[in-house]
Amino acid sequence: MVALGIGYFRAEPWTIETIGIDDDGLRVSGWVLPPLAGLPARFTWNDRPFDAVEFPIARDDVGRHFLTRAYSAASGFACRVRASRAEIFEREFLRIEYGFHGRPKPFAAANAWFFGDPDRDPPLPETERLVRVIGRDDSFQFRLGGATDFKRICAIAARHGAPIGPGNRILDWGVGCGRVARYLQRVEGVEVHGADIDADNADWCARNLRGEYRSVPLMPPTDYPDGHFDLVYGVSVFTHLSQLAQDAWLRELARITRPGGTVIVTTHGETAIEYGGGGLEANALRKERLRKEGFLVTSANDQIAAAIGNSDYYLNVDHAPWYVRRHWGRFLEVVAMIPGAIGVHDVVVLRNSRTSIQ
Ligand SMILES: C[S@@+](CC[C@H](N)C(=O)[O-])C[C@H]1O[C@@H](n2cnc3c(N)ncnc32)[C@H](O)[C@@H]1O
Repeated sequence: MVALGIGYFRAEPWTIETIGIDDDGLRVSGWVLPPLAGLPARFTWNDRPFDAVEFPIARDDVGRHFLTRAYSAASGFACRVRASRAEIFEREFLRIEYGFHGRPKPFAAANAWFFGDPDRDPPLPETERLVRVIGRDDSFQFRLGGATDFKRICAIAARHGAPIGPGNRILDWGVGCGRVARYLQRVEGVEVHGADIDADNADWCARNLRGEYRSVPLMPPTDYPDGHFDLVYGVSVFTHLSQLAQDAWLRELARITRPGGTVIVTTHGETAIEYGGGGLEANALRKERLRKEGFLVTSANDQIAAAIGNSDYYLNVDHAPWYVRRHWGRFLEVVAMIPGAIGVHDVVVLRNSRTSIQ
């Protein structure tokens, strides 16, 4: 019996809204929800303190969104430091982190945001492609979120015995226009694959990123051989599938992952409900319904309807942990569930516990 990782990776929401880099150095701003009022926040860049930090700054907009969180209206921050561009990108990614004095960090990567040097970046996809994967035209969040999700997937994979490195064959399932794969493709010695039902976005990746990218049908099978991948990850894919499509794809992921291989995917659950705005009562009702039913279709989603020529397939759905354990466990071994590990998504780590390819 494997202990589930619920709770070891509980991150409070915070976000970066701007990163400015010029001859004066680095400026970063955003908001962070303090777990308790009056705790001094500590912000760092590449593990070093900033020269100047303003916190808290009044943020009525954040207060209105997080009605259920105390102190959310006093959550703004602005930091600056004199630093050269070479220092800012001395590691592969600029790392911005916050912590509260005296509060142990459960898993550092969850508290950090990462940002790649724009000069090293592949081209950015066009507006309509961004909108299909993140719902808005925001190339800064596309890059910040892509680098951060990539680093968190790396941390989770390493923590669960599947470090990403040379010799790995990895599939980004639901690759979109390469928000995460654009950083995976930098890792030397990794064989990068990406698949998506949005053929136009898969084609953009094939033209602009290193790796093998292809479109796949709405329902499996794919052309990938049995046991082909060491690791498959899928960010925000199971958050959009009906139970019928979910089960077919769980079976397919189990088939194309090698025995002992790892699958890391995200779901929406209580974290997304809590951080999605809404009042105490509405959130409590939705959580209660999810706890009872396990799987909920919350709404239709027309973001990719035109691209896939189908307006029924893509949905918004929520999963409860007990449902994932019980139901998904029939296809793959559920190794860990980590609330809020990737944005407002919970992460599910699965293992193909077959000992041989069938
Ligand atoms: C919310 S977007 C996320 C894209 C990308 N993973 C990211 O994090 O930027 C969901 C993506 O999953 C794709 N998708 C949905 N169902 C899929 C399936 N059954 N197989 C492969 N891709 C799928 C969509 O076309 C879309 O590109």
